[in-house]
Amino acid sequence: MQAALAIIGEDLKLVEKQFRKDLESDVPLIRKVGEYVLSSGGKRVRPALLLLAARLSGYEADKAVPLASVVEFIHTATLLHDDVVDSATLRRGIASANTLWGNEASVLVGDFLFSKSFSLMVNVGSLDILRILSDATTVIAEGEVMQLLCTGEIDLTEERYIDVVRSKTAILMSAACEAGAVLGAVLPRLQKALADFGMDLGIAFQLMDDILDYVATEEEFGKSIGHDLEEGKITLPLIHTLRHCTVAERAVIAAVVEQDEMSLDDFRAVSGLVKQYGGIAYTVDSARFYINRCKNHLELFAPSPVREALLSLSEYVVTRSK
Ligand code: IPE
Ligand code: IPE
Ligand code: MG
Ligand code: MG
Repeated sequence: MQAALAIIGEDLKLVEKQFRKDLESDVPLIRKVGEYVLSSGGKRVRPALLLLAARLSGYEADKAVPLASVVEFIHTATLLHDDVVDSATLRRGIASANTLWGNEASVLVGDFLFSKSFSLMVNVGSLDILRILSDATTVIAEGEVMQLLCTGEIDLTEERYIDVVRSKTAILMSAACEAGAVLGAVLPRLQKALADFGMDLGIAFQLMDDILDYVATEEEFGKSIGHDLEEGKITLPLIHTLRHCTVAERAVIAAVVEQDEMSLDDFRAVSGLVKQYGGIAYTVDSARFYINRCKNHLELFAPSPVREALLSLSEYVVTRSK
């Protein structure tokens, strides 16, 4: 992360300014909710990816900052909706917007951010970028619906799980990188390499997120621990465990997944099995596999500090604790 910040730190500050400006609306609740979420200290991984991908593609002009702001707008809109869908109470270490203002306000402000993203993208004036980012938002919506349909499904396969992850999370990181490449007008194979880099990084990012849901501390992670399990989300650590545990243990897990409320003892029982059967280690290995592929995608670019910064960002993904 440090290497990335050294290169794009100034631009990231401009992105913060930009999305405060982009939030302008005559409706006070929109500003209030929007500012609350956008000021609450997200990691800004997606804007960083876009800015670095643009730099790696040789782009130095003024469209990268507004586009990086758009990508964070889209991300914020998905978080507002996602926390309603997941009944999340904590986000970035503070009460989620739905907890403070209710589901209705969260959904509507999320809609505002989505719609606003599209007018901001049109202003940037690239039909290719508009296509990449609008396709990404469609795929995210599909991913969230796929996830909903998989809820509580104890027989969920690793393949279908990765499909959900690709759609709900990785596509936006891929689109951020690809949009940066389009700004730099690189050759199609380089554009694809950056899109693939973002996709593999995004998959690893979500795998680590699913691990942290089992092993992080709430203070550091900023989200409730064990919440995926409580919501009946079957993620890779659990899929691996279900493949290896006994019939009796499977019944214990199924009972916890089906319950609406989960006690601390229930969580300890299941997370104990996940650790015992190597569900965490398996998922870390899987995340590492995708991050190693990230390195290969960037081989097409000549070595440079910007390439190093993207690689260190990918390394950060598999070592992060928040
Ligand atoms: C949260 O994304 C949603 C997932 C894809 C897991 P981030 O972890 O990037 O969220 P912030 O923006 O840093 O809070
Ligand atoms: C992240 O989904 C993907 C989107 C927000 C679209 P999750 O539900 O897994 O992420 P967290 O745990 O709420 O951040
Ligand atoms: Mg969620
Ligand atoms: Mg999660």
